[in-house]
Amino acid sequence: MLTVLHHPLAAHILTHLRDQTTKPATFRTLAYQVSLLLALESTRDLATRPVPIATPLEPFPGTVLAKGLVVVPILRAGLGMVQPYLDLFPEVSVGYVGLERDHATAVARSYYCKLPPLQGKRVLCVDPMLATGGSAVQALQVLKDQGAREMALVCIVSAPEGVAAVEAAHPDVLIYTGALDRELNAQKYILPGLGDFGDRLYGT
Ligand code: PRP
Ligand code: URA
Repeated sequence: MLTVLHHPLAAHILTHLRDQTTKPATFRTLAYQVSLLLALESTRDLATRPVPIATPLEPFPGTVLAKGLVVVPILRAGLGMVQPYLDLFPEVSVGYVGLERDHATAVARSYYCKLPPLQGKRVLCVDPMLATGGSAVQALQVLKDQGAREMALVCIVSAPEGVAAVEAAHPDVLIYTGALDRELNAQKYILPGLGDFGDRLYGT
């Protein structure tokens, strides 16, 4: 199931992210801001449990988060989406999956993996760009193989081709995206897109 962020602030931030004149320092701030909106959207249905407390005036039937949360960025560009989860969810665990697309074939190659226990946790895989979907499909399989069951994929810009690939390979995974773009070009970059997210994030 696909959820596209619909918020005027998201559209504003995404416009500046897409703008080719935006420099890396501003790009990182904008990536943080849109990821904060996505962090809220992608955790809207988190389980809670009742906790009765007392305010200074009277008893109150409170609720707190019931389940551990794990965020897993796909390196390297996914790192630009992690901080909002750390800021909002102080007890979140962070795992890492390193994947890099070959420039000629656009096929992702795995070069790193370090994950906390995933069983019984809500696992959010974050990667700003969902293009062919090859990286996301591979990363989600790694997470499933390590025991993740309740998973979502959180992206900033997605192509229809990538969404279709993830939905075909992992129909149980919810997808949240800041924008759903038109198509891929011959080099498998998203159109209109924003270019190479990792390069723009880190000035490479
Ligand atoms: C980008 C992006 C995704 C992937 C998307 O990473 O961050 O991981 O491409 O493309 P796909 O859907 O066709 O697999 P890249 O491989 O450029 O590595 P980087 O994050 O190190 O820049
Ligand atoms: N990776 C990116 O960073 N941008 C794209 O458009 C496609 C893959």
